[in-house]
Amino acid sequence: MGLGDLIKGKKDTVYYFFSGKGGVGKTSIAAATALWFSQKVKKKVLIISIDPAHSLSDSFEIDIGGEVKKLKKNLFAVEIDPKKAMQEYKERFMPKIEKSEFLKGLGLDGIFDMAGMTPGIDEIAAFDRFLQYMQNRDYDVIIFDTAPTGHALRFLSLPDVLDSWVGKLIKMRMRFAGLANLVKKVLPFGEPEEKPGTGTEQLDAMKRRIKEAKEILSNPEKTYYSMILIAEELAILESERSLNVLKEYGIPVKTIIVNELIPENPKCDFCTEKRKLQQERMKTIIKKFTRFKIMKLPLYKEEIKGFDMLDRVGKELYG
Ligand SMILES: Nc1ncnc2c1ncn2[C@@H]1O[C@H](COP(=O)(O)OP(=O)(O)OP(=O)(O)O)[C@@H](O)[C@H]1O
Ligand SMILES: [Mg+2]
Repeated sequence: MGLGDLIKGKKDTVYYFFSGKGGVGKTSIAAATALWFSQKVKKKVLIISIDPAHSLSDSFEIDIGGEVKKLKKNLFAVEIDPKKAMQEYKERFMPKIEKSEFLKGLGLDGIFDMAGMTPGIDEIAAFDRFLQYMQNRDYDVIIFDTAPTGHALRFLSLPDVLDSWVGKLIKMRMRFAGLANLVKKVLPFGEPEEKPGTGTEQLDAMKRRIKEAKEILSNPEKTYYSMILIAEELAILESERSLNVLKEYGIPVKTIIVNELIPENPKCDFCTEKRKLQQERMKTIIKKFTRFKIMKLPLYKEEIKGFDMLDRVGKELYG
């Protein structure tokens, strides 16, 4: 099955992830894929950067930012800003109860300081934003530009972390809401009850979103993972390792994209030697990764930036 086959005849949104080591071409290939699907396949595409060090703007040569921006007909992009996501997240989740003078008096206000309880609240906040976009039914295709391997893997394992964390938080909140309500009943100066739709209900909704996201992310009918690598020995070994980890998480990688293959150039001894070595590594890749569809991308003289170059890459990969 090719990358494009996944969206044929599909009504539901499909998702694409590109993972790989730092600098192997994830952002460039994600951007080229987004452009290709939006322009050539005429699907409505959203590309989301979940890499805190965004470079999607550079790739498209358009300033994108933290809200969804239309780049072209059918092509939309957003760069999730973990800091901003965290701020919004805190405002939304921090129960009013935390500001309660009464709880402060009891020294209990800090109980809701979620920052102290999380494996990285900024990451979770970004993940929550990611879930919101992910479950947006407006797009035919959603493409994620992720951070280098380690971070992407952590991000994808967050549903498990969060599942237990959110579960605990919900239970704790329920207990405290009960206590606080009791206090309010007893003491006339207690604060008004929280509006519905905040606190527990929001957390419940998030838990539901996480469950749904987990199902989507491990469903090969809905989510398509590609591993990008360069034809070098160390890169092959590392890719093998991360493919195993991804497998443990139930993440079905389909395609391997070998990037930066040196084209033939008889006039350049250095290029010829380097190319020979790469061709050797390519043999190893084909032997090792038999389960995967293998795609290739040449090394270009130019950087992959701007619509024209992205279009060229798209044509090479999918044309
Ligand atoms: N096939 C190619 N030919 C020429 N330049 C390339 C090729 N692939 C990637 N590049 C260039 O290499 C640089 C790194 O690419 P890119 O930003 O896409 O990698 P990345 O995997 O997203 O990096 P990071 O891990 O830092 O997010 C960019 O300047 C890009 O233009
Ligand atoms: Mg990148």
